Amino acid sequence: MKNLETLRKQNNQWRGHFDSLLIPCKKTHHPWIFFDNAATSLKPNSVIDAVVKYYRELPVNIHRSVHELGEEATAIYENTRDEIQTWIKAKKREEIIFTRGTTESLNLVAHGYAKKFLNAGDEIFLSTSEHHSNIVSWQIALKDLGIKITPIPLNHDGTINLEELKSATTEHTKMISYPAISNVLGIINPINEIRDWAKSKGIITVIDGAQAAVHSIIDVLEWDADFVAFSGHKMLGPTGIGILYGKEKWLEQMDPLFGGGDMIDQVAFDKTTYNQLPYKFEAGTPSIGEVFGLGAAVKFIKNLDQEALLEWDKVLMNKMEKVFQELDVFTVLGDLKHKSTPLYSFYAKAFHSHDVAQLLSQFGIAIRSGHLCAQPLMKSFGVTAVARASLAFYNNEDEIERFGEALKKTKAMLQ
Ligand code: ALA
Repeated sequence: MKNLETLRKQNNQWRGHFDSLLIPCKKTHHPWIFFDNAATSLKPNSVIDAVVKYYRELPVNIHRSVHELGEEATAIYENTRDEIQTWIKAKKREEIIFTRGTTESLNLVAHGYAKKFLNAGDEIFLSTSEHHSNIVSWQIALKDLGIKITPIPLNHDGTINLEELKSATTEHTKMISYPAISNVLGIINPINEIRDWAKSKGIITVIDGAQAAVHSIIDVLEWDADFVAFSGHKMLGPTGIGILYGKEKWLEQMDPLFGGGDMIDQVAFDKTTYNQLPYKFEAGTPSIGEVFGLGAAVKFIKNLDQEALLEWDKVLMNKMEKVFQELDVFTVLGDLKHKSTPLYSFYAKAFHSHDVAQLLSQFGIAIRSGHLCAQPLMKSFGVTAVARASLAFYNNEDEIERFGEALKKTKAMLQ
């Protein structure tokens, strides 16, 4: 256990890697306070440098050219795959597929796996806390195939109701897709319990790891998940790059979703054969600069002191809870005791959440508001919209104090 002063020093060091923490707000002339990290994280300078390195020093295509620049760029691209593999503890580098983001990764599973291997009468479980990406992908891919999509309700604390999950299971239940951490609740779902239930029934597990990646908790070995999807931009990396982890045995059997470029083996008008894994799923020129940035992001996360990170999260969470307790007007979704990340979706019946977010913006504080891409979850809590403050390890106590003061003024202005 580190003392508070040590943690504060550590946080200051972390902050030093993020020049974007200095972006001035035109209204307050102070640096912006970024409490919208669940929408996208800030990028450390090393990530920005890595993207610039690609465009400035190695601006070539990969896997195609034998010139030295092409080979160097290819090596950095493929090295990022290795970094991801060891980081999430995948058995093989072939199990790491680069996509454009979590949404595309989930679509790849829905179209490439579920559409091919599930049959009419089969059933897929989702949780009520799904992001729209993990609802609509299945709806589109499985339309008119007679495959049932069943939402599993949540407990009052916001986690998946395991009893309900077990009692709803039938011989037709073939797959479950759910978030490791909800983007609305900031609560870690009982991944190991779901794993044990799924394995005992031979049910395929798909985990949306978008909000989990930056917390460095993705462990595909322990989770024994069949598929895990996550995005670069929520874990300090660039936008436009994501990852699909899939067990090799499934990826081998799946058909590619997109054709062209790297995914081919032999092409003829009468028959085309596909490349081996992972390239079978990486059609066209990939997002090379983004993968350079992603590589730097993974290295940055790997070097963070995980123990200090967790303890700093607790410091931020205690302080945020006090803000909400003192104001005593906003309801926070999900049980505070079960929160495992500093993410707070809150509302007050008398205020519109967009008004709250807009007023906070006047005070130089960036949060998100609206349905947070989770309309069914909003409905289950009886609200249509919330405001959400989502913090990251580079946020500090001073910012929370300023958030608390701004929220107090916001409340007074709206009452
Ligand atoms: N899924 C992102 C969020 O929660 C965009 O804000």
